[in-house]
Amino acid sequence: MLKVVVLVSGGGTNLQAIIDAVKSEQIRNVELSAVISNKKDAYALTRASENGIPGVCVSRKAYETREAFEEALLQAVDSFTPDLIVLAGFLVILPAKMTEKYSHRIINIHPSLIPSFCGDGFYGLHVHEKVLARGVKVTGATVHFVDSGTDTGPILLQKAVSIKPGDTPEVLQRRVMEEAEWIILPKAIDAIANGKVKEVDGSFFVED
Ligand code: GAR
Repeated sequence: MLKVVVLVSGGGTNLQAIIDAVKSEQIRNVELSAVISNKKDAYALTRASENGIPGVCVSRKAYETREAFEEALLQAVDSFTPDLIVLAGFLVILPAKMTEKYSHRIINIHPSLIPSFCGDGFYGLHVHEKVLARGVKVTGATVHFVDSGTDTGPILLQKAVSIKPGDTPEVLQRRVMEEAEWIILPKAIDAIANGKVKEVDGSFFVED
């Protein structure tokens, strides 16, 4: 069983998609070891407890320095000895120590087609606001491995989503979640757990 720790900051709809996929066996050979949130009132923590998954909060506010917070976050993660860390709407830049220690064992879901609309300042609803402001006609979501940069790690899966006339950021966010995020994030986890990820010339592919 692949031991997975999921890091969250908010509502946790991606976490829910992962929980549902484990239950329906769309994700096989995975144990959800813990959910760690940097926000104590994140609804994702309620989803965790409702599903019998240990939930932990590591809040920046509880520590005097950024370094102390990062150390506590790393300790919380380490305490579950995960094989894979999944960032499912975790809106904190990871400590370099963590990205080094867990190289190619951390994945993130991002709500655009990287390398468009990503990097500093591109998170959550802001991504969709900027997509609509630019007037592009196709957006989507990306699952990528996390390295020391922001949204710069190797791409594992992507799925495109159409923009429709009259879309608001909220409407588009929901469509990107439904048509892309909630599909490719569970798919990536299942692929990693079951040896379906292949590297060819430095590029990663998921076998069907
Ligand atoms: C998701 O849309 C996710 O892609 C995004 O935050 C949302 C979390 O929703 N992540 C980022 O923007 C990371 N840069 P959720 O809590 O309902 O899963």
